[in-house]
Amino acid sequence: MTQIEWDDSLSVGIKLIDEQHKMLIQRIKDLSDAVEQARGLEKILQTLDFMIDYTEFHFSTEEKHMKKLGYPAFDVHKKQHDEFNSTLDCLVEDFEEEGATDALSISINTFLINWLVKHIKSMDKKFGEFLQKKEFEI
Ligand SMILES: [Fe+2]
Repeated sequence: MTQIEWDDSLSVGIKLIDEQHKMLIQRIKDLSDAVEQARGLEKILQTLDFMIDYTEFHFSTEEKHMKKLGYPAFDVHKKQHDEFNSTLDCLVEDFEEEGATDALSISINTFLINWLVKHIKSMDKKFGEFLQKKEFEI
């Protein structure tokens, strides 16, 4: 199964956001582990829930700062977060209906990693640059 490690290429130059991304990556790893160790469906759904909860917390942190600082690309960025949430909702439903099949486990893992890496490297880095220009510090 595809794995993900945080490295400097994922840094957006803002400590708070980098720390949250590291935590999110950890949650994705926990999910991959649960799937790989063929834990029961209940355990997998629980790990998935933890990951989703953290994602919501993380997105709301980013969006809160975007709004507060009048980030010009707020709408586009938020739209990506919302689309991600809807896709996750569908995947959770699939898990509930089909169980933790190999195909589903691989597709959720690949989706999470691909989406996150792409989103961080494009959208979040731009937001990071904006925050740095605003001399935003946490
Ligand atoms: Fe984001």
